[in-house]
Amino acid sequence: MATTQAMTQDELKQAVAQAAVDYIQPKLVDDIIVGIGTGSTANFFIDLLAAHKGKIQGTVASSEASAERLKGHGIPVYDLNSVDEIAVYVDGADETNERLELIKGGGGALTREKIVAAASKEFVCIVDGSKWVGKLGEFPLPVEVIPMARSYVARELVKLGGNPILREGFTTDNGNIILDVHNLDIAVPCQIEEKINGITGVVCNGLFALKPADVLIIGRESGVETVTSGS
Ligand code: A5P
Repeated sequence: MATTQAMTQDELKQAVAQAAVDYIQPKLVDDIIVGIGTGSTANFFIDLLAAHKGKIQGTVASSEASAERLKGHGIPVYDLNSVDEIAVYVDGADETNERLELIKGGGGALTREKIVAAASKEFVCIVDGSKWVGKLGEFPLPVEVIPMARSYVARELVKLGGNPILREGFTTDNGNIILDVHNLDIAVPCQIEEKINGITGVVCNGLFALKPADVLIIGRESGVETVTSGS
């Protein structure tokens, strides 16, 4: 009797990356700019997008690493300030809930990711099923901080109930540090996102709740599912 082998996490990531390419295909007739995320799932998307590079005007990348990978495929990468509109942003996430609120920043690129997502007409998030959670916060929340504010911001995060840990030996593309906040009770993600944004010295936090994803493409053993906000 033939046995079916379980898909690996990488195979699931590749499947959702392919689904994202299929999702944006109808938009490619307009010579669009595509926003590109950061991380292993985004890397699969970049590699698959390469086959369609002649059909897009180019990309805006959310990290130096993604920009390098895009250029390696001969895909044009533009500075955000030189483009008028990003039609669609495609990126992974570390956690997502059913409202398509996300935790991002496991790769440390959260600030540029949030900027490119904000500047895009549509945010398509691609994840394997392990990222789906009932309540956000098991994954430590990354917070990008101006280096001189590290201790002050850490104390303020403790007041919010979190346990901030410095990401050792890591500097963001913007020259800042990351505090990974463990054990935070993220009951109402929008409130926590706003509160952390309000701490002086914080550049950005990895909660994408005030502006969640518009579309979630999630890959599970049972298949790839597309969820739109409000559905
Ligand atoms: C990068 O800073 C992150 O926001 C990534 O989008 C996130 O960590 C997901 O990464 P993987 O696709 O590698 O799981």
